[in-house]
Amino acid sequence: MRRNLVVGNWKMKINQQSAQKLIGEIIAGLPSEDADIVVCPPYVYIPEVSQRLEGTTIGLGAQNVATHSEGAYTGEIAAVMLKDFSCKYAIVGHSERRANYADTDETVAQRFKQALDADIIPVLAIGELLEEREQGVTFDVVAKQLNAVIDFAGIDSFQNAVIAYEPVWAIGTGLTASAEQAQEVHQYIRQLLAGKNQQIAEKIQILYGGSVKPQNAQALFAMPDIDGALVGGDSLNADSFLKIYSSFQK
Ligand code: 13P
Repeated sequence: MRRNLVVGNWKMKINQQSAQKLIGEIIAGLPSEDADIVVCPPYVYIPEVSQRLEGTTIGLGAQNVATHSEGAYTGEIAAVMLKDFSCKYAIVGHSERRANYADTDETVAQRFKQALDADIIPVLAIGELLEEREQGVTFDVVAKQLNAVIDFAGIDSFQNAVIAYEPVWAIGTGLTASAEQAQEVHQYIRQLLAGKNQQIAEKIQILYGGSVKPQNAQALFAMPDIDGALVGGDSLNADSFLKIYSSFQK
């Protein structure tokens, strides 16, 4: 049985003070049982959020990771550096990085492998643009994005990875894929993996991302291949984030 996982991506939408307040509220509001919940602050707040999370079951993640482990890469943060601050997860291939920072299937695959090599679980984000959905090529797009990583890192590397399906047209727009639309793609992703390794396909957590809110979390959770959520906007409000988290508890 897969456990559900809820990940908050704070993006660049927070400052030091609001980050402290938010993490305090999440810690205070979380039920005490073992929690499958993760927050991904901007890099610079990782040390202090990491400190606050000591002794809690809340996981820490980064929003990106460098393509190399060390070297002359000004401005980059290596996976091993994140590991120093107990980061357990790193998002790789977010559509905002693909669109605005020239991330390609190849660099995403490198980031994925860097995370794994440092014992960090990559949260591989994939998803189609609105035009691509309208052209009916959604499956082709997610297959290409996923296969690029499988070819580079090997199918076995997905033993310790998470996939996040985030249709680009649903991110920050208030438009959510319907639970059925999301399920269809999640099922496709799982089948693609099953064609290569059945056990990995059954075990891997596939999260949905794109305008997840307390109002739609329940319907998404009800779908057999949706194993949690990658939340942007609503992860910045402790009450909403915790409501979403509760909706995903079995
Ligand atoms: P929103 O929840 O704000 O649509 O963002 C989704 C996302 O990009 C999470 O990584």
